[in-house]
Amino acid sequence: MPVHDTPTVDLAALGENFTRNPYPVYAALRAQGPVHRIQMPEGRPAWLIVGYEAGRAALADPRLAKDFRQAAPDLAVRRIAAGVTMLSADPPLHTRLRTLVAREFTPRRVERLAPRVQEIADGLLDAMAPAGRADLVDAFAFPLPIAVICELLGVPFLDRDSFRAWSNTALSGTDPQDRVDASAAMKGYLVRLVADKRRRPGDDLMSALIHAADEDGDRLSEDELLGMAWLLLVAGHETTVNLISNGVLALLTHPAQLDALRADFSLLDGAVEEMLRYDGPLETPTYRFTTDAYLVGDTVIPGGGELVLVALGDADRDPARFADPDRFDIRRESRGHLAFGHGIHYCLGAPLARLEARIALRSLLERFPGLRLDADPEALTWRPGMLIRGPLSLPVAW
Ligand code: HEM
Repeated sequence: MPVHDTPTVDLAALGENFTRNPYPVYAALRAQGPVHRIQMPEGRPAWLIVGYEAGRAALADPRLAKDFRQAAPDLAVRRIAAGVTMLSADPPLHTRLRTLVAREFTPRRVERLAPRVQEIADGLLDAMAPAGRADLVDAFAFPLPIAVICELLGVPFLDRDSFRAWSNTALSGTDPQDRVDASAAMKGYLVRLVADKRRRPGDDLMSALIHAADEDGDRLSEDELLGMAWLLLVAGHETTVNLISNGVLALLTHPAQLDALRADFSLLDGAVEEMLRYDGPLETPTYRFTTDAYLVGDTVIPGGGELVLVALGDADRDPARFADPDRFDIRRESRGHLAFGHGIHYCLGAPLARLEARIALRSLLERFPGLRLDADPEALTWRPGMLIRGPLSLPVAW
């Protein structure tokens, strides 16, 4: 279909309903075709790819670049990240940055974290226990991943509340200037962090990255180290918090599934995969920009830096890939979901996220056998924007 014939779907006009439950909106679009011209809730025009097959193909296509400098100037896309990150780089820079960190961020390093993750989870649950009720986001789902990522990076103390506010605003803020300001505040914090690690190296990933950079002919620049710290901290907690929150919400609103899991924790690994598929933390991944014309179905997205989003949440609810996709079923075969992306940018932290979610869920369910929702699930407030999907708070009682 030629570009001028493509009507624009104004997602902003759908307001709170779309934020609360975007799945029916995506499904209705999918019924019409795999790509749509949209107006994002934050106001930018974009192309939205829906459905599993088209989404998976787009995630791995080199004609869709991640470098924000490829964006058409009138989109006014500005860098949110501090420093240079692999998530907003294309090959060969992407290959270089990812190889350097993958060499240090190994499955062994992740496995070694397991006892600490358990300790952190137990400590948080101890603190929650006496009250009999809590906001699960505040008391557990948020502090757990941030403590784990601090452990990994070797940050002895993080001003968590400031960091959470900056990071929330940078990623989900609706005002572009607020997003830029929050990013600048985070950058100042991270500059001090990298400098501190340089002065006092430890047995942690950040020190290893600085050290590796020093010993290799190919060094990570200061901006690249900063970008790496930014990416690991932000990607490491903005996502996992919502895997825990959305996952617990799915269990508590599907009592038969919850009972099945409580009765047999060998279902846990599959349950985590189903949580990722059913209501994953990233509704759409970070921006992609066309370098060349890109054909989806019978629609041509022009080259020249058009903004393209892939609806991961919709791909994982496509009945062509997952039977009866709106049903939450911890026993189904959920592998192949796109919640961690696909292709060269496939989530580097997936093993850590899975480890955290398994420990968090099992510990929570074992500690509080009577865990239940303490709010009407329809009345929960969800994070704004199309990037991150998760409730702002999740009242529970036991
Ligand atoms: C449930 C939790 C998580 C989810 C759902 C998730 C999801 C994703 C997705 C979809 C991407 C690809 C984005 C794109 O293609 O535009 C990605 C990339 C990435 N994630 Fe995760 N992530 C999670 C946890 C983590 C954790 C814990 C870490 C690190 C500690 C992490 C580090 C990264 C990094 C470094 C990238 C960039 C990879 C690249 O550009 O090559 N993520 N993640």
